[in-house]
Amino acid sequence: MAPGRRQPRLIVALDLADLRRAEALAEQLSGHRPVFKIGHQLAYTGGLGLAERLIRAGQDVFLDLKLHDIPRTVEEGVRSLAGFGASLLTVHAYPQTMRAAVAGRGGSGLKLLAVTVLTSMDDTDAAAAGYRAGVAQTVAERAADAAQSGIDGLVCAAGEIAGARRAIGPDRLLVVPGIRPAGEAAGDQKRVMTPREAVALGADYLVVGRPIVGAPDPVAAAAAILSEMEEATRR
Ligand code: C5P
Repeated sequence: MAPGRRQPRLIVALDLADLRRAEALAEQLSGHRPVFKIGHQLAYTGGLGLAERLIRAGQDVFLDLKLHDIPRTVEEGVRSLAGFGASLLTVHAYPQTMRAAVAGRGGSGLKLLAVTVLTSMDDTDAAAAGYRAGVAQTVAERAADAAQSGIDGLVCAAGEIAGARRAIGPDRLLVVPGIRPAGEAAGDQKRVMTPREAVALGADYLVVGRPIVGAPDPVAAAAAILSEMEEATRR
């Protein structure tokens, strides 16, 4: 691993409808010490309680709630979560939203990540959503805004790591979804790369959902991704 480089970590997206299945899967995977990501699907069906139990058990939890609202609502929402004990929380990368989230986080240890452009979107989707520029330029602009706002890191696709890193500097975190081991179906993701490629490009965290959660043997799938990540950091 290059000197000064952080060891990249695996984030497992517990994207499951069934809380008990999610809890059992987290238990099975806990020995590998991933970060457990709880998003919309699970958060609204008891997932925040699971997050609390995982935190009490010493696991790292990422609340992927992708907050975006008027500044006061974002600030107070983040303030409510600041003492929860999660390691990471997402907000959308709009300047007002990011500034409000930073104010709400205060002096807590919660790290805030700004979602630049969802990895399910390509240039056509960006145009359909009314974006002025294509995906690459929008990510670069939002990364520059994030750097101004005091946010701790960005969520972007692996292909945007180099530009995002230039905009946010060496210390902030780059969290990369749209990860697919070779031969895996992309599903609704449009900007995908393998674990090896994303690590080689400099991701700090890889977010993996379906390739682990939907695998016949999720523990073996996670172990294979972790060993691919380790091998890529040794190069
Ligand atoms: O199943 P898959 O590996 O595609 O899951 C990716 C996870 O990362 C999902 O939980 C999704 O919500 C999340 N995510 C994403 N793209 C972003 C931000 C988060 O895919 N820009």
